[in-house]
Amino acid sequence: MKAIVVAAALGALLACTAWAPVAVRTAEAADGAGLYAQCAGCHGEDGGKAALGAARPVKGQTADALYGKLKGYADGSYGGSKKAVMAGIAKKLSDEAMRALAAHMASF
Ligand code: HEC
Repeated sequence: MKAIVVAAALGALLACTAWAPVAVRTAEAADGAGLYAQCAGCHGEDGGKAALGAARPVKGQTADALYGKLKGYADGSYGGSKKAVMAGIAKKLSDEAMRALAAHMASF
């Protein structure tokens, strides 16, 4: 009897451990404003800055265009002279995070 309880508790614990990273990613991805905090240093709080003097401001662009550009940086099909900077960043973003970020930037 005791063994069953212990096994069940262990099973629940393992299930939680396996689930935790997924839950964290989803929560992050849903929060475009929170994710954008890591971008604001270069792109500006309101997206109006030319990042590193090279980027077109993200402010004033549509969510579709921004999402397409993030995808492009990740797969190497988009970018200018400093695209390596963004490729490194975009490759770490999930599809969901890109969508949340694009929607947030489109609201500037
Ligand atoms: C270290 C500075 C830096 C950080 C941090 C940074 N970017 Fe960039 N970003 C750039 C540079 C430089 C470019 C222009 C690269 C090129 O030459 O294509 C750029 C370009 C872009 C573009 C394309 C603009 C256009 O219209 O061509 C988007 C969209 C973008 N960044 C989104 C983001 C998002 C979202 C984040 C945060 C997850 C982020 N950036 C973080 C420097 C940065």
